[in-house]
Amino acid sequence: MAGRIPDNVLEDVLSRVNIVELIAGYIPLKRAGRNFRANCPFHHEKTPSFMVSPDRQIYHCFGCGAGGNAFNFLIQYERLEFREAVQMLAKKVGVELPCDTAQDNHTASLSAAVHKVNELAASYFHGNLSLPAAQPARDYLLRRGLKDNTIKLFKIGFALNAWDSLINFLRQKGVNLSFIEKSGLALAKDSGGYYDRFRNRIIFPIFDARERPVAFGGRVLDESMPKYMNSPETACYIKGKHLYGLHLSKEAIRQNNLAVVVEGYLDFILPFQEGFQNIVASLGTALTYDQIRLLKRYAENVVMVYDPDEAGQAATLRSLDMFIEEGVNVKVAAIPKGLDPDTFVRKEGVGAFRQIIDSASKLFDYKLKVLSSRYNIADAEGKAKICSEMLPTINRFTDAVLKSEYLKKLAEALKIKEEALFEELKKLKSDPGNYGFAVKNDLPVFKAHPAEKLLMRLMLEESELIARIRESIGPDDFQNKNISKVVSVMFELSQQGKQLEVSSLVNYLQDETVSQFICESAFEPELSSQDKEKIIEDCVKRLKNEKMRSQRLKLHEQIKAAQHCGDEDKMNCLMHEFNDLIKKEVRQ
Ligand code: UTP
Ligand code: MN
Repeated sequence: MAGRIPDNVLEDVLSRVNIVELIAGYIPLKRAGRNFRANCPFHHEKTPSFMVSPDRQIYHCFGCGAGGNAFNFLIQYERLEFREAVQMLAKKVGVELPCDTAQDNHTASLSAAVHKVNELAASYFHGNLSLPAAQPARDYLLRRGLKDNTIKLFKIGFALNAWDSLINFLRQKGVNLSFIEKSGLALAKDSGGYYDRFRNRIIFPIFDARERPVAFGGRVLDESMPKYMNSPETACYIKGKHLYGLHLSKEAIRQNNLAVVVEGYLDFILPFQEGFQNIVASLGTALTYDQIRLLKRYAENVVMVYDPDEAGQAATLRSLDMFIEEGVNVKVAAIPKGLDPDTFVRKEGVGAFRQIIDSASKLFDYKLKVLSSRYNIADAEGKAKICSEMLPTINRFTDAVLKSEYLKKLAEALKIKEEALFEELKKLKSDPGNYGFAVKNDLPVFKAHPAEKLLMRLMLEESELIARIRESIGPDDFQNKNISKVVSVMFELSQQGKQLEVSSLVNYLQDETVSQFICESAFEPELSSQDKEKIIEDCVKRLKNEKMRSQRLKLHEQIKAAQHCGDEDKMNCLMHEFNDLIKKEVRQ
């Protein structure tokens, strides 16, 4: 797929970038000794644990484990692909990328290629709307209150009532059939061949925040089912990562420091058209942490407009907990029964919609109201039920003051003693199962022998030591496969006489988990004053012993298995190996 950008070019770009300036362009950095510090942009926190090192040109968050070099930061923050991040920085520092000129379907990444096909498809669908055959579609959009400008702005289109009209169009443009299928726009027939996924439907393209079409939703013109048909996941579309309309609304969301979350395409479009623009649509699916984090980049406050039916209520309640966990201030607005934002705005006007948003209930009040309608707040069982559902939510607040305020409110509402609630809350804390997804933690767990970590740190700290360590140990002697990978790259690079910086090591590894790992190690205090040669000797010895020990254990298992099957020959052979190993171990 993507033609790899040569390492020396990556190095060149990196060497001209100052990661501190780059990151300071996105979030405020404060000096902290030799490093800079900030609230992590990748998870919610109140005390800053996000560090940027000007010396090593890397960043690392001690809270969530995020870390890497300038490219990784852009990938994470701007949601770019690796190639895009390199392109963006290269442009910034004036380095020309060799493959920029020869970029076609083969060299561009798969996802960029899908973007391109989607781009073609979107303009094709949009163009269809002016055909005579699209009269019913135009009438439909008119009936739903969409103005011409809105249709243009959202690039709404129409898929003709045919089996292969998009396929034929794309083929003319030189896109091959299997790629059309990969883009989610065609389906394979059992009998061979392909047919258009979207037929006789109004098409709503879904754009990412950078205005690239990533997927499509198609609505029928009548009451037939399914009402909406959607693109499948593709190289550029993962469900739950995008929010409909954000590319048009992000500025308004930023300015208002508030995002209103609705469910459907038209629930977004109608208020937007009438001037209520700080809005996004989740497209009917339950919100994900990814979507919430995406929103958090633009606003600290969210109002969810909920569907008053049971399913809608349950989905809203789940989302509320997630917002709290991410530290977003969330409220809930109620649209009168039987309406949704789209129909409400058409019936009552955008002013009335604004009022509903302004008078949204606080999460606490909303949840308590929902629960009080489900259970009898006056009897003991009802109170216990309400408590058991309210407490996990209250517990999600990281702010102790908020937590105790809400406990007080809950005690008042239920007319019970606050101490009783404290007791229950304590129980909850000792039972992690009760937290549900509160225990989510993106931090990858790195289990490794301390000697492995220590050797790696030494090499990261002082590249002169790499050659010395390479003399006495091989990458295979490291049992943690992440460390083993790092070590083998370090050995290889040092053999080629390359200078080794942590930030460039990250490029060679091209592995997010491993990169985070080494950036974390790089922020640990230096081992400078100690006798490094002695440390190396000890560590190497430990690792060799460890390796033999695990070989011995493995052989032991194999011997037991051979014994179990009565395989004498194999057993003899294994025993022989076992004895050799023991002899070696003794000699060490
Ligand atoms: P709704 O059923 O509330 O539809 O689904 P809606 O948005 O009010 O649709 P209109 O107003 O009749 O056109 C909310 C969202 O759930 C997704 C769509 O994104 C829709 O906007 N959905 C719904 C589907 O993906 N498939 C379906 O069959 C139905
Ligand atoms: Mn609707």
